[in-house]
Amino acid sequence: MLTMKDVVREGDPVLRKIAEEVSLPASEADRKILQEMLDFVINSQDPEIAEKYELRPGVGIAAPQIGISKRMFAVHVTDEQDQLYSMGLFNPKVISHSVEETHLEGGEGCLSVDRDIPGNVPRYSRITVKGTNLDGEEVTLRLRGLVSIVFQHELDHLNGIMFYDRIEGFKDKLKKELPNKV
Ligand code: NI
Repeated sequence: MLTMKDVVREGDPVLRKIAEEVSLPASEADRKILQEMLDFVINSQDPEIAEKYELRPGVGIAAPQIGISKRMFAVHVTDEQDQLYSMGLFNPKVISHSVEETHLEGGEGCLSVDRDIPGNVPRYSRITVKGTNLDGEEVTLRLRGLVSIVFQHELDHLNGIMFYDRIEGFKDKLKKELPNKV
């Protein structure tokens, strides 16, 4: 099973790469990895398992976060209407989005980021995502609210984008703090 030891942290170049499309139908190896990623997220939300294996609770993980530069991620998250979205997706794509934007109150966090970075992360309020699930079925999902934000966060990982890249002024602030490093 995957644990925090398998999760790469910020600074690792794999988090900045554009991940490669998964060739479909997915190989048994890719399916196994994606299932393990989903199991990891589910386990991380189980207080007993999380404590035993020292897992940080998360709602999603993308393959680059375990060092695999492929376009796949897993989420396990419940929306404001108590509907659970628990799935792994291969080659997810946003096929349309709202003009309206939103953000998560209190900012975002990431399993690959071991520090609190406050600030609003602008996201589309609504997105339509297409992808292929673990059963090999093509799915189209219309998402809003928290679930939509989680999907956008994970999709960003497939494009080498960290959530703090989207916080207004964050990079300028970093430049001032670390003039030689950025
Ligand atoms: Ni993340």
